[in-house]
Amino acid sequence: GTAPTEVAPTQVCASTPMGYGSMRRKEDARFIRGQGRYLDDIALPGMLHGAILRSPFAHARIVSIDTSAAEAHPKVKAVITGETLAGLGLAWMPTLSHDVQAVLATDKVRFQGQEVAFVVAEDRYAARDALGLIEVDYEPLDAVIDARTALDEGAPVIRDDLDGRTDNHIFDWEAGDAAATDDVFARADVVAECDMLYPRVHPAPMETCGSIASMDPVTGKLVVYTTTQAPHAHRTVYALVAGLPEHKIQIIAPDIGGGFGNKVGIYPGYVCAVVGTIVTGVPVKWVEDRSENLMATSFARDYHMRGEIASTKDGKLLGVRVKVLADHGAFNGTAQPSKMPAGLFHVFSGSYDIAAAHCQVTGVYTNKAPGGVAYACSFRITEAVYLIERLVDVLARDQGWDPAELRMKNLVQPEQFPYTTALGWEYDSGDYPRTLQKALDIAGYAELRREQAEKRERGELMGIGISFFTEAVGAGPRKTMDILGLGMADGAELRVHPTGKAVLRLSCMSQGQGHSTTFAQIVAQELGISPDDIEVVQGDTDQTPFGLGTYASRSTPVSGAATVMVARKVRERAKIVAAAMLEVSPDDLEWEKGRFQVAGDPSASAAIADIAMAAHSDLELPDGVEGHLDATCVYNPPNLTYPCGAYICVVDVDAGTGQVKVRRFIAVDDCGVRINPMIVEGQVHGGLADGVGMALMQLMAFDSDGNHLGASFMDYLLPTAMECPSWELGETVTPSPHHPIGAKGVGESATVGSPPAVVNAVLDAIGVRHADMPLTPAHVWRAMRGDPIRT
Ligand code: CDP
Repeated sequence: GTAPTEVAPTQVCASTPMGYGSMRRKEDARFIRGQGRYLDDIALPGMLHGAILRSPFAHARIVSIDTSAAEAHPKVKAVITGETLAGLGLAWMPTLSHDVQAVLATDKVRFQGQEVAFVVAEDRYAARDALGLIEVDYEPLDAVIDARTALDEGAPVIRDDLDGRTDNHIFDWEAGDAAATDDVFARADVVAECDMLYPRVHPAPMETCGSIASMDPVTGKLVVYTTTQAPHAHRTVYALVAGLPEHKIQIIAPDIGGGFGNKVGIYPGYVCAVVGTIVTGVPVKWVEDRSENLMATSFARDYHMRGEIASTKDGKLLGVRVKVLADHGAFNGTAQPSKMPAGLFHVFSGSYDIAAAHCQVTGVYTNKAPGGVAYACSFRITEAVYLIERLVDVLARDQGWDPAELRMKNLVQPEQFPYTTALGWEYDSGDYPRTLQKALDIAGYAELRREQAEKRERGELMGIGISFFTEAVGAGPRKTMDILGLGMADGAELRVHPTGKAVLRLSCMSQGQGHSTTFAQIVAQELGISPDDIEVVQGDTDQTPFGLGTYASRSTPVSGAATVMVARKVRERAKIVAAAMLEVSPDDLEWEKGRFQVAGDPSASAAIADIAMAAHSDLELPDGVEGHLDATCVYNPPNLTYPCGAYICVVDVDAGTGQVKVRRFIAVDDCGVRINPMIVEGQVHGGLADGVGMALMQLMAFDSDGNHLGASFMDYLLPTAMECPSWELGETVTPSPHHPIGAKGVGESATVGSPPAVVNAVLDAIGVRHADMPLTPAHVWRAMRGDPIRT
């Protein structure tokens, strides 16, 4: 009954396609031979090395810092403290959420691992050694670790640096119609509620964060090589913080070994490297180690949610409401559009036709690392999808309904698109029932349920979990979305050289998603130039147009659209040149696979390469038409794109140990038109593994004093091939009506959609209504005994 599917393996093109299709990544040539050039591979002449002294306490007053012994170390060139920075006006920096964060602590430390001092030395080892010579006198304070106690009367006030602050409250925010929602709940036959925590997790990219800053004392130009997903946004923030003009700052992102949201923000270490180069006059490199990455750079999630769902007695969903307590750590560094303190969480009505919905979110400070990054999700959508997909399962369980049928009955129908949700989102397109049906067919759902029933009779614990998600990616329309006041439009520049080869310059930044390949394929599709002949340039602010970078699966929806539009501008120019070449009116020309040909006379045609040469030649062009084949474009997306997917997870749970084995995982994704199906499948594979990790293994725990209990990969477990089944993928394609090629983002879909499928499967296996992630053997074992662990 479990024989996997007839899903066809992705066909890899034998030769390079002239457009969309599964071609191997152009990047493979260097990545699979170990020839990538990552930040730590870069060594500049005379470069020094920085190391950060970090707080051992979660909350303590700094009484004094004595750096004299460290300064006397023969290899130490500078020791920088918060006091040094305060003299430069750099002790505090702005966060992405209009808060401030200490670069190096001056008054207090507010989480374990917080940055206290920065040593610059001749080598990394000396810098580390000298940290041990710095003496800091701390006066420990009580810490707030559990967000649920942050607003208690008498709780220690964490942010007494902020004027007039007497508590740990950050914001209250709500969305939806409270009265209408209360009304449907009052009339509903059935209400199910559930308290759940989406625990704190960490993106944990293979490459940690780092930076090399180099200030040229003669020209006054600052060059920063850095692990950034958003080079242009970084440049603007540096300009604002340092008071330098943008043209005196160059941000260069080399190859990036995974970002997943961890490399969106600016960290104190980056600023310290900049101050280090200013103080020493030579380049300074700072690279964090694994424990520093897990302790101090951005976490994600940490949402305590109390959700309720209302339905008729026949299973028609009527309303959903939720109260959230959001733990933002010691500084509000959450990455999200400015007007939305809970990000895009208010898509939590999910994929269902629900009349009324309302959420209320309260953000609080705790003595934990700041963050709230969009870890492989579009600004809190992961939390939203988890909430609704758990609630639907809880309701189904309470009422004895089949969770697949309940979902099928309530999905938004194809004819309802564009569909406006109760929370005001306009979903662009989708055929949800077909997507779910496809997943059920691949899984052999009825047969799986029969197998499960049989196994239950024998005392074996098998579970089947479903989730159906709608993602909202491609942030975003300038009228509704900005980060720190920067609108989220993206630029693109395309130059076609005289010989018909091209360079495409983009503001987004690949972290392993294969942009050099797929963006070249977009140009290839539009212009008929081979992808091999199109160079994609990213990551250097001196070389690329402005735009907000790569996260929240925005590259394809925004930069991808910019690429299409700029290629089409070039094609329009090419048409005028071809008309001059062929001595006809442009109106007489038709575009056909890389050539313009005269309508009705295919023998009279000009190929793109010939047109490119002519555009640079002495060919006479009509008045007012410039030569060359170059164009620029800025794309402001009219809406987000809304990919969706149906996921089914099958698990076996060991009744004696609580160990979960993911036996099968079926993922049917719809991301509109696929540019490179093989890359899309790779993105889905990675996201599914990530989701299994979050659901079963990853725990970023703290003790009550705020000691971090998961600061290495011995404790913070990442999924490997051992924990993952052979994924069974399927697809449906409903193009986005407003994207110029109908593509939607996909990079994060699987991370968003998979955790609830895994959790639903495990809880289905053990017959428990709810238990929080991660469902480690200990958690499952306790949950089976009616004593679930609250993390
Ligand atoms: O922003 P990010 O690159 O992380 O996410 P994305 O836009 O979802 O794209 C991830 C990768 O999948 C890129 O190389 C895209 O070009 C590719 N992709 C595709 O080939 N077809 C799609 N419909 C969506 C993404």
